[in-house]
Amino acid sequence: MPYDELLDKAREARNRAYAPYSDFQVGVALLCADGSVYTGANIENINYTNTTHGEQLALHKAVHDGHRDFDALALSCSGDPSAPCGLCRQTLSEFCDDDFMIIVENLDAFTLGELLPGAMDTID
Ligand code: THU
Ligand code: ZN
Repeated sequence: MPYDELLDKAREARNRAYAPYSDFQVGVALLCADGSVYTGANIENINYTNTTHGEQLALHKAVHDGHRDFDALALSCSGDPSAPCGLCRQTLSEFCDDDFMIIVENLDAFTLGELLPGAMDTID
């Protein structure tokens, strides 16, 4: 799937965010190796800590459905564009290789290896 189509899906997913505290909506579309796409958006909690990030939701939905191989993720933010936070970079690194692509709307495209160099890796 072309990355601009993946970005369209991330922008649509942003509408499903629940972000009454930050008013910063994050939409994500995750491309699996078999071509299927999973979406996610941030879901906040009044205590802030229990907030689920958009990347986390998309990845865990896909993993729960049995997916283990991923190619790319598109991210669309309602405010200034931002690359995934450190928490999400680590979460993605459980299943995604260094060449996994992260495309941020109105910002740039990165590999996970660029965003999280030297990630912890003990599984052969
Ligand atoms: N957020 C994400 O969904 N993903 C990130 O990687 C960065 C932050 C959310 C969490 C919170 O709901 C809002 O953006 C502001 O931090
Ligand atoms: Zn995050």
